[in-house]
Amino acid sequence: MSKKGEIVLSGVRPTGQLHLGNYFGALRNYVKMQDEYNCYFFIADLHSLTTHPDTRELREHILSVTSYYLASGLDPDKCVLYCQSDLPQTTELYLYLNMLAYKGELEKTTTFKDKVKLQPENVNAGLLTYPVLMASDILIHRAMYVPVGKDQEQHLEMTRTFGNRFNHRYGEVFPEPKAFNYGAQLLKVPSLDGAGKMSKSENQYATIYLSDDDDLIRKKVMKAKTDAGPTGPNSEKPDYIVNIFDLMKLVCAPEVIEKYDADFNACTIRYGDLKKQLAEDMVRFISPIREKAKAIREDERALSIILKVGAQKAAENAEKTMDMVRKAMGLKYF
Ligand code: TRP
Repeated sequence: MSKKGEIVLSGVRPTGQLHLGNYFGALRNYVKMQDEYNCYFFIADLHSLTTHPDTRELREHILSVTSYYLASGLDPDKCVLYCQSDLPQTTELYLYLNMLAYKGELEKTTTFKDKVKLQPENVNAGLLTYPVLMASDILIHRAMYVPVGKDQEQHLEMTRTFGNRFNHRYGEVFPEPKAFNYGAQLLKVPSLDGAGKMSKSENQYATIYLSDDDDLIRKKVMKAKTDAGPTGPNSEKPDYIVNIFDLMKLVCAPEVIEKYDADFNACTIRYGDLKKQLAEDMVRFISPIREKAKAIREDERALSIILKVGAQKAAENAEKTMDMVRKAMGLKYF
């Protein structure tokens, strides 16, 4: 496939294990995009310091996320994979953009307000300027497309604001990045307790991690909320049953889903059987990724080379941007 040359960038904070929502919401699309665009995917370790100052587990999380990225099909020959703290140009740009970001607008950011509530004892300046660092990640590569979920859209809007402010004040350097998704393929990955979507931090038992072993996957699926079954033919499915069907769409064959749908409509559905089927299909889907990631994780030397080479490639593009930035700002004195 020929690449369009447009730049795509996305990042993930290494604050926990990757889960099924990360896979279907992001990773799977990254794998597709690497054939079509100039892709930069990075691990946002600096961002995680705003909420997780303890760095002891950071290294392990970075290696683990990288292993799962590779196991899912990201190819270091097709995309640039790097770790945020290996690209010092990002932090230089962050400093310049901080002069163009106002305290008032930063304080109004939804994620900032949420985190102030979550950690009132640690409302640090890094937390306040989190969107500025994220803007730097994106603008440092002059990215056009940023595949992110809904919760990151406000940050992307702020990125456009900071980039435009820079352009107006110092001269045109940054294009306007847009959110990207493969439209129709936006799949729902609901949590197993019938409330919301799978996430890193909430109810651990309601989330299936890519690192879960087969028995744990089975246990989690079997615990998913159901009831005694529909009381009349062709009735409407309650939310938590819709969720289970949504999960089936991710990993089960269409005939299987049709069968259980028909059983539901005929009031003959047996949720125990349905969940057993879902659990086995889930295991069949996740276990090869998990085993591959484990094998990749074991070769730490190879992993470190991938991230080092990635950082070098990222630096080439970032240095070009910083050259334009310093020139535009008049900071190149000699
Ligand atoms: N803030 C993002 C998140 O929490 C992670 C992130 C950091 C990011 N920098 C980015 C995502 C740049 C996209 C582009 O998920």
